[in-house]
Amino acid sequence: MDPPLAPPPHVIIFPLAAQGHVNSMLKLAELLAHSGLRITFINSEYIHHRLLRHADIQARFTAFPDFRFKIISDGLPLDHPRSSDHFMTTFSYVKSITMQLLEELVSAPDRPVTCIIADGILTFTIDFAGDLGVPVIAFRTISASSFWAYFCIPRMIESGDLPIKGDEDMDRVVTSVKGMEDILRCRDLPSFCRVADLSDWTLQYVTTQTLQTTRARALILNSFDQLEGPAISQIRTHFPNLYTIGPLHSHHKSRLSSPSPSSPPPSPASNSIWEVDRSCISWLDKQPPKSVIYVSFGSITTLNRHDFTEFWYGLVNSGRRFLWVVRPDSLAEGGSGAVPEELREAVAERGCIVGWAPQEEVLHHGAVAAFLTHSGWNSTLESVVAGKPMVCWPFFADQQVNSRLVSHAWKVGLDMKDVCDREVLERMVNGVMGERQEEFAADAGDLARRAREATSKGGSSWDNLDRLINDIRSMKP
Ligand code: UDX
Repeated sequence: MDPPLAPPPHVIIFPLAAQGHVNSMLKLAELLAHSGLRITFINSEYIHHRLLRHADIQARFTAFPDFRFKIISDGLPLDHPRSSDHFMTTFSYVKSITMQLLEELVSAPDRPVTCIIADGILTFTIDFAGDLGVPVIAFRTISASSFWAYFCIPRMIESGDLPIKGDEDMDRVVTSVKGMEDILRCRDLPSFCRVADLSDWTLQYVTTQTLQTTRARALILNSFDQLEGPAISQIRTHFPNLYTIGPLHSHHKSRLSSPSPSSPPPSPASNSIWEVDRSCISWLDKQPPKSVIYVSFGSITTLNRHDFTEFWYGLVNSGRRFLWVVRPDSLAEGGSGAVPEELREAVAERGCIVGWAPQEEVLHHGAVAAFLTHSGWNSTLESVVAGKPMVCWPFFADQQVNSRLVSHAWKVGLDMKDVCDREVLERMVNGVMGERQEEFAADAGDLARRAREATSKGGSSWDNLDRLINDIRSMKP
C-alpha cells in the first residue's frame, strides 16, 4: 500500500487591518494558494465583512479548497467609523486576541503550521511564534525605499539629520540614508520624521518595528530589483534572506490567468473593502483616448475644506477631463466635499465623481492619461504597471518617500508635496498631460515594461516568488 500523502505546507498570513495592507497580503495569499499551499488568512471582522460581501471576491477564495479565513474582532463595533488612528487605540486588544488565536492554530494537530507570514509592522508575532517553534517571515507592504528610510532613523539621529529644524530646514539634503543620498531631502523623509521630539510615540513605534524585523526568518517586499535597486541592495546587507516579489498584482495577471489568444484580457482581481461604482467605466468609454486624469487619494487620506476647494478649482482650471474618487468619509471635518456652486457646470461637463472606483481597471483604460495620487504604495505600483505618469500629493507615512521616487528617481511625474494650491495643481496637471506628456509617458512606458518583465517567467520577481514557495515547502512543520 502507498504511504499516505504528506499534507501541503500550511502558512498563516496575518496583515494589519487596513485596506492597503490586506490588499497586498491577500494577493500574496492567493498566489501561494494557487501554488498548492494551505493558507489560513487572519482577517479582522470589519474588513472580512466588507470584503466578502462581494460575490467575485468570495468566488476567488472558495475556489481554493485549502484556503480559509480566521476572523478576529478589532474591539470596535462593525458600524464604527474607523480612522487611521484606531490601529493605535485597539492595538493591545488586537495583539492579545491574535496571540490567543495563533496559539490555538499552532497547537491544532490536524493542520500543523509550517510558517507565519506576518505584517512587518506587527512584529510581536516574531517572538511569540518563535516561542511556539514556528518560523516567521515578515512582509512589509510599503516601498523598499521607505522601509530603508525607516531602518536608517537611528543613523539619521546619530548623524544630526534628525530632528528636522523647522520649516526652513525642509529642503536640506539628507546624507545618512545610504544609497539614497542624491534623492532625499528632509521634506521627503517619512512623515513620522517631522517631529521636534524624537521620543514621539509613532516615530519610536515605527523605528522599533522596523529594526525588529531583522529577527524574522526572512523579509518579503512588494517591489522589484529594477525599480528600487539602491534601497534593495542596502536592505540586502541586513536581510540576506530577502524576497522582492512585486508588483504582486502583476503576477496575478501572469500566473493566475491563462487567457486564450482570443479571450479579452482578464479584469484585475480587486480586494476592495468598498462598494465599487462601475459607472465610471461607462463614462471613461465615452471619453477620447488619453484625455482624462484619474484622481484618487486611497482609502485613508482625508482632505480639509481648503484642500477640497483648491483641488476643485485646480482640476477645473486645468481644462482637462477628470475622474475623481471622493469617498463618503473624505472630508476631514465630516460632511461632503461638495463642488463649489460656480464650478458645477464645468464639473458636470468634464468631470465624473464616484465614491470608489475599480482602480486597476481605470488605470489601464485607454482614456486615462495620468494619475493624481496620494502616493500610497499600492496605487504607485498600480500606476507603474499601467504605465501612467503621476502627479503626487503625498499625505502621510511612506508616501513622502514614494512621491520623491516618482519625480526624481524614475522621473515619471511631478511631486506637489506640502503644497495645496490651485495654480500649482493646474500647472502640474498640464505638465503631465500637456507640454511634458511625451517625456513622462515614454519613461512610464519603459517602467511598465520592466515591471512586466520582472513578473514574467524568468524575471527577478517571478524567480523570487518561486524561491519563496520552494523555501516554504522545504520547512518542516
Ligand atoms: C495605506 C498607505 O496609505 C500606503 O501608503 C501604504 O503603502 C499602505 O497602506 P492606502 O492609503 O489605502 O494604503 O493607499 P494604497 O496603498 O494606494 O492602497 C489603496 C488601494 O485601494 C489600491 O490598491 C487601490 O487600487 C484601491 N482603490 C483605491 C480602489 O480600488 N478604488 C478606489 O477608488 C481607490
